[in-house]
Amino acid sequence: MAIEKYLVTSALPYANGDLHIGHLAGAYLPADIFVRFQKLLGNDVIYICGTDEHGTPISIKADQKKVPPRKIVDKYHRRIKSVFAGLNFCFDNFSGTARPVHYKISRQFFTNLYKNGYITTHTNKQLYCPHCKRFLPDRYVEGECPFCHSKEARGDQCDACGKLIDAIQLINPVCITCGHNPIIKETTNWFLNLPKFSDKLKKWIESKTEWKDNVKKFILGWLKSGLKERAITRDLDWGVPVPIENAKGKVIYVWFEAPIGYISSTIEWAERIGQPEKWKDYWFDKDRKLIHFIGKDNIPFHTIIWPAVLMGQDEDYILPYDVPANEFLNLEGRRISTSRNWAVWVNEYLEDFSADPLRYYLAANAPENKDCDFVWKEFQEKYNTDLANILGNFVNRVLKFSDKNFNHEIPFPTKLSAKNKEILEDISSVRDNVKQFYKTFKVRKACKSIIDLARFGNQYFDKTSPWTTIKSNPDTTAEAIYICGEIIRNLAIMIYPIIPSSAERLWNMLNFDKSILEYGWDGLLVEQNNPIKIGKIETLFEKIPDDIIEKQIQKLKGNNIMTKEESKETIDFETFKKLDLRIAEIISAEKVKNADKLLKLKIAVGDNIKQIIAGIAKHYAVEDLIGKKILIVNNLKPTIIKGEKSEAMLLAAVDGEKLTLLIPDKDIPEGSKVL
Ligand code: MF3
Ligand code: ZN
Repeated sequence: MAIEKYLVTSALPYANGDLHIGHLAGAYLPADIFVRFQKLLGNDVIYICGTDEHGTPISIKADQKKVPPRKIVDKYHRRIKSVFAGLNFCFDNFSGTARPVHYKISRQFFTNLYKNGYITTHTNKQLYCPHCKRFLPDRYVEGECPFCHSKEARGDQCDACGKLIDAIQLINPVCITCGHNPIIKETTNWFLNLPKFSDKLKKWIESKTEWKDNVKKFILGWLKSGLKERAITRDLDWGVPVPIENAKGKVIYVWFEAPIGYISSTIEWAERIGQPEKWKDYWFDKDRKLIHFIGKDNIPFHTIIWPAVLMGQDEDYILPYDVPANEFLNLEGRRISTSRNWAVWVNEYLEDFSADPLRYYLAANAPENKDCDFVWKEFQEKYNTDLANILGNFVNRVLKFSDKNFNHEIPFPTKLSAKNKEILEDISSVRDNVKQFYKTFKVRKACKSIIDLARFGNQYFDKTSPWTTIKSNPDTTAEAIYICGEIIRNLAIMIYPIIPSSAERLWNMLNFDKSILEYGWDGLLVEQNNPIKIGKIETLFEKIPDDIIEKQIQKLKGNNIMTKEESKETIDFETFKKLDLRIAEIISAEKVKNADKLLKLKIAVGDNIKQIIAGIAKHYAVEDLIGKKILIVNNLKPTIIKGEKSEAMLLAAVDGEKLTLLIPDKDIPEGSKVL
């Protein structure tokens, strides 16, 4: 079969914050799985990404922290990159859009469109802060909503009523940087003349019959309501300067230049591998399939604006072949929100778990066609059931049995019954299905088919019960074990795109002389025709215990900062009185094993000595705690944290990284009630 050519990208994450599970489920994990699958097939594929380093989210963060934007960008670039490494992502290049190659090519792109007559200018009114001496991008102003009169509307949108706002409509606008009232001033900006691309875009999109329904529906809706010119410059100082004489102080709009990052990152890659012209094989070869993995909020940019920008260039860039956008992932029944800290941050996840449990759960529960929910208990359950109980257990039984009874080998039998031949055919049809699922971005279905095969393996092992036949009938036993071995060999390769490091560990137990990637998907087409030597057998999947899940749930609840809206929820005095708040004295303190944030404290409260586990190890030295009187909740239901009992909770004030215990202002006996 001819080699297929792909160029795969994931949306460039903004370098202004950390990654959470919602990002992963949308644009990243599905891409990594697809790329690994293509690599297994031996196809020509590279995987390109990088951070999106411009735009107001970044300049706002920089202003808030009073540091230059580049500092923010460098910090988050590093953090994001290391989280991806922790999850075993296989990018061929991971760049950033604030680098010289990106500036150069973005300016070229703009200039070409300008020269080719696709850019117009318009002068309009915008808010200008006389104090900061600059035009205010939408997110830099707040004020009263002209529709619902909420006092907390932003320059682009009111969260209270959900309406889109033009910043100059805000009543009593305020500059969020300095607090002064901005004035209305005229400014000129450059616009992409999208209507000029209407016919071409329409034709192109109509040819995309295979695209996901959610994506097609969205685009056709846009086209139907008529394309409008879009401003592609902004009055900002952080960004790619507009390459036109009279555009001083203006930068190219982030959404215009960010996708060009896919190209600049490819150029960077080509230079890095010492073949500087090679990027052209990826962007100008019309046999190459360009696939953009994105979240659904990025659909219009990737399917209308970006293709138009490509169409308006002098060179013949390839256009997106497919844009498999995913829906959203919610968390424990609520929309993920970074501002409220209602999120599972991947760097924090990696402190407690390895990559594969998350990769597996997000694949098996991928928001492919509808929004999905991440639930910690389900995460545990899915992993423990599918991977530990079904897949892991099957592998373990078969390998241990062979090791013991067939001289450390999975045997190769002298003959195969008709029934067993049929099973081999069934395995091969599962493999064809899974291949088709991967190809068409149906990772949920791929997971299910793979686990179903492992489940079948367990049933087969039970039914043939080799431990009873081994003495009386070694030949049929060898046959059965051979079939189990074939199932395992297939499972390892098929599940590799989803949980690569576990698949590799499994593979290593089988002692093949080629790595999984060298062996490849096609390696499965040849039935195994000699015994497989078994290496050291290890447990593939350790079950995730309850306490570690409980901890995640507690952390999430603790993180969740109430919105202004929610904090209006009041409780009555009766409810408050249920809390038994007390003064307690710390009588001993020590570190908790394998938990660098936790301390185990013994406290005296009235007549009782209680044990509590508190997350304050980073903030207090053990010796400084003894004798301190603190404030506790005395009647909390006891729980187990990291295997240790915790019978109360201490109270502390927290602000970001800072934490302080609450200590009584005057001496007072432990056990005293707090009212
Ligand atoms: N930074 C954007 C986001 O996180 C995505 C940019 S995708 C790109 O929503 F193509 F523009 F780079
Ligand atoms: Zn101001």
